[in-house]
Amino acid sequence: MSNVVVVGSQWGDEGKGKIVDWLSERAEIVVRFQGGHNAGHTLVIDGTTYKLSLLPSGIVRPGKLSIIGNGVVVDPWALLDEIDRIRGQGVEVSPERLKLAGNAPLILPLHRDLDQAREAASGKGKIGTTGRGIGPAYEDKTARRAIRVCDLGDRKTLEAKVDRLLSHHNALLRGMGLDEIDGKKLLDDLLALAPRLLPYAAGVWQELDRAHRDGRRILFEGAQGFLLDIDHGTYPYVTSSNTVAGAAAAGAGIGANRLGYVLGITKAYTTRVGEGPFPTELTDEVGQTLGERGREFGTVTGRKRRCGWFDAVLVRQAIKIAGIDGIALTKLDVLDGLEELKVCVGYRIGGQEFAHFPSAMADQAAAEPVYETLQGWQASTEGARSWVDLPATAVKYIRRIEELIEAPVALLSTSPEREDTILVKDPFAG
Ligand code: GDP
Ligand code: IMO
Ligand code: MG
Repeated sequence: MSNVVVVGSQWGDEGKGKIVDWLSERAEIVVRFQGGHNAGHTLVIDGTTYKLSLLPSGIVRPGKLSIIGNGVVVDPWALLDEIDRIRGQGVEVSPERLKLAGNAPLILPLHRDLDQAREAASGKGKIGTTGRGIGPAYEDKTARRAIRVCDLGDRKTLEAKVDRLLSHHNALLRGMGLDEIDGKKLLDDLLALAPRLLPYAAGVWQELDRAHRDGRRILFEGAQGFLLDIDHGTYPYVTSSNTVAGAAAAGAGIGANRLGYVLGITKAYTTRVGEGPFPTELTDEVGQTLGERGREFGTVTGRKRRCGWFDAVLVRQAIKIAGIDGIALTKLDVLDGLEELKVCVGYRIGGQEFAHFPSAMADQAAAEPVYETLQGWQASTEGARSWVDLPATAVKYIRRIEELIEAPVALLSTSPEREDTILVKDPFAG
C-alpha cells in the first residue's frame, strides 16, 4: 500500500478538497505541504458545507491526524480563526488531532499589507493575488528573515528576529514615504498569540517518519494547481510556491521516495481566477453557462472565476512535469446538456503550431487554441455513483481526454457531495 499525493493539474479549484476528504477515509494522516490561506477547499458532506483554507481536508473525519507542514506559510491569526470557525461547525480540533510544523514560516500583517499595496499600485499589471500576503511571506522565507512558528516560544529570539525583519521592511517603507511598522507592537501581538498557537507546534518530520515506519497511510494535500507553480506555471501570473508533487517531500519533511501515487485533480473544463493567459477562455454564453452551473466563484475572495474549454495540452504538460500517475476528473456533471464540447489539442502562435505550452510570456499570451469537437450528452450525470450510469457520449469524452493527456482516470466526481464519487482505480493500491 502506498501513500498518495494530491495536486491540482490546472489553475487551482479543481475540487482537491472534495477528493482529499473522500480519500481520507482510507488514510490516517492528511498533510498540507505548500501554499497558505490563499487556498479555498470546499467539502460538502450530507448537505453541510465546510470551507477550509489552512486546515487539511481530513480534519472533518474523526480520528484522522491533520498536519500543516513546513512548506506552508501560516498566518497564525487566520489559522486560529479557522479553527474556531470549524469548531463552530461541530468538528473537533485539538493539538492531538492537528500538528503544525515548528519550522513553518509565518505570514504577518505586514505581508498582507504589502501584497495588497503592490497589487493596488500595479494597476493593469497586477497578478490578481488573493491579497493574503503569500508572495511577501515566501520572499522573506527565501531571504532568511522569516519568523517561524518555533520562534514564538522564545522571547529573546523573537525580539531579535522582529528587529531583523523590520530593519528590512521599514527601510522599504521609509523609501516609499509610508509609515513604519512598530516593532514593539508586532512583538507584543506575537507574544500574545503564542500560547494559543504553540500547543499545535510539533516536529512534523518525526511524526511522519514514525507513521511511515508503522505502515500508516499518509495523504498529502496540494493547494493551487500546476499552472500556478512558481517555476512551471504561467509566470509571473502564478503563486509563490511549487505546486508540483515533488514539493510534498520538501514541504512536509519526508523523503521523495516515500511519496507514492500522485493523483492530479482535473476539472472536466478549465477555470482560472486572477490575471494571466488562458488560451481556452470563453467570454461568450457557454463560458457564462459553465460559470453558473459550476458555481464558479472563488472560495477565498468570492471573485468570479474565468471559465473555458478543457485544455488537454496544459493538462498533459502537468501530467509530465508534476509527475501525475492518474487523475480524478471532477465536475463532469457541469457539462451535462451541452450540444457539443471542445477540447484544446494544440496552439497556433505566430503562424506556427505547438503541441506544448511555451514558457515565454508573449507566446503564452498569443497562443490560440486548436480545437477538437466532441459530441455532448443530454442525459444527467449529476450524482452518478457508478460507471454504468454514465451516458455513452460522456464515457467517450472521458476516454478521449485520457488519450490526449496520456494518463488514466482513477476517480470521477459527479457532484459536490462526498459520496458522489466513482472509484476506477484505488490510488492507495499504488
Ligand atoms: P479546490 O480548491 O481544488 O479544493 O476546489 P474548490 O473547493 O475551490 O472548488 C471546487 C468547487 O466545485 C467546490 O465548490 C466543490 O464543492 C465543487 N465540486 C467539487 N467536485 C464537484 C463535482 O464533481 N461536480 C460539481 N458540480 N461540483 C463539484
Ligand atoms: P486552491 O487551493 C485558484 C491564484 C490567485 C492569483 C495567483 C497568485 O483553492 O486551488 P497568491 O495569493 O497565491 O499570491 O495569488 O494564484 N490562486 C489561486 N487560484 N485556487 C487557489 O487555491 C489559488 N491560490 C492562489 O488567484 O491568480
Ligand atoms: Mg479552491
